[in-house]
Amino acid sequence: MDHDGDERPLDPGRRKVLAVLAGAGGCAIAAGAGGPALVLALAPAQAGGSATGRWVRTVQKASLKDGEAQRVAIVSERRDAWSVERDVVLGSVWLVLRGDALQAFSAVCPHLGCSVNAHKGGFACPCHTSAFDADGKRTAGPSPRDLDALATRVDAEGYVEVDFKKFRIGVPERVAT
Ligand code: FES
Repeated sequence: MDHDGDERPLDPGRRKVLAVLAGAGGCAIAAGAGGPALVLALAPAQAGGSATGRWVRTVQKASLKDGEAQRVAIVSERRDAWSVERDVVLGSVWLVLRGDALQAFSAVCPHLGCSVNAHKGGFACPCHTSAFDADGKRTAGPSPRDLDALATRVDAEGYVEVDFKKFRIGVPERVAT
């Protein structure tokens, strides 16, 4: 029942206004409880990871063989709202050096997430036969898009760093998760 006295259900607009007011009331109560309580309540959300990737050091660029794809593990820390784990294997990527050009591809097949292998100068997925050329372009199979390329850079000590990200599988667009 609303305050007009009848029992009509609230229309969506009024329901939204009431939800906003309820949220504002909750904040006011938290603020009234004191600063430290508010900081504790906000801390987990601020500590969460982001979908924008992270630079992860892999192998020495000098260890890569020209024209030969090399799979490298992505080992880094894993954060969630409450903890940080160090030296966790987050995934793997393919590094390909051709002359001065260095490419990195996610090893996750964009179809349903199996791990792709280097195959005949390109890449192939063992699960449903998606195939990709040396530049990661899809050439066969059900994958909805090319392999996901990742940015690379070489640090001052000659190590290849990869801007590691994960992407949504099964969709034609590249959407970082
Ligand atoms: S998961 Fe790779 S083709 Fe299906």
